[in-house]
Amino acid sequence: PVPVIAIDGPSASGKGTIAQRVANELNYHYLDSGALYRLVALKAMQCHTDLTDQTTLATMATQLDVVFAAGTVRLEGTIVADAIRTEQCGILASKIAAYPPVRDALLSRQHAFRLPPGLVTDGRDMGSVVFPDATLKIFLTASAEVRAERRYKQLKEKGISATIPDLLQDIQKRDARDRNRSVAPLQQNSDARILDTTSLSVIQVLNKVIAWYTEVCAS
Ligand code: CDP
Repeated sequence: PVPVIAIDGPSASGKGTIAQRVANELNYHYLDSGALYRLVALKAMQCHTDLTDQTTLATMATQLDVVFAAGTVRLEGTIVADAIRTEQCGILASKIAAYPPVRDALLSRQHAFRLPPGLVTDGRDMGSVVFPDATLKIFLTASAEVRAERRYKQLKEKGISATIPDLLQDIQKRDARDRNRSVAPLQQNSDARILDTTSLSVIQVLNKVIAWYTEVCAS
């Protein structure tokens, strides 16, 4: 089977940054599973969909016209790379991600990214649900405070205004919601390797992941 590196973890743990860097390093494909949930959320906002209507949201997820190419993402032809990154979209994504029909609808879309020579993917349930046979499973974590600071820097670079206390509160709420819901809860996989990045740089985390992957491939 095509190798998969699954990187799971809580909001703003740096999993997206790391997964992308690992994919670049190995020349593998990259799947940002959170972007799929954010895209459904954006589409629902655009269509003023009833956000409790799980059936309509699931149909939307199945039919979503999305293209990931040339380092950007298009929804129905329009570049939405920044539009899906707003906190509002993230909060909404986390709400609709709790609906089993939406998660099911996105399953085959996620599997379609598993193409040679390999895939690096990040999310909440990559190793536990979507790619249970992943070659390497990692659970990335960091303190909520450090995650709020990282998210702040990331938003600032994009010119999106936010404050650290607000972001911290949002991360804590999101953690609680991700932890308490019935499907794809935020939990460590028993077979995932845990990496606490609170005091590690991006390069240090990247090197650790590559070292683990080299070790797994050699065994
Ligand atoms: O990391 P962050 O929550 O800021 O954003 P994301 O990874 O882009 O994901 C957006 C939301 O989608 C998350 O808050 C999760 O609730 C949800 N999600 C999920 O349930 N399962 C995934 N595999 C990925 C994201």
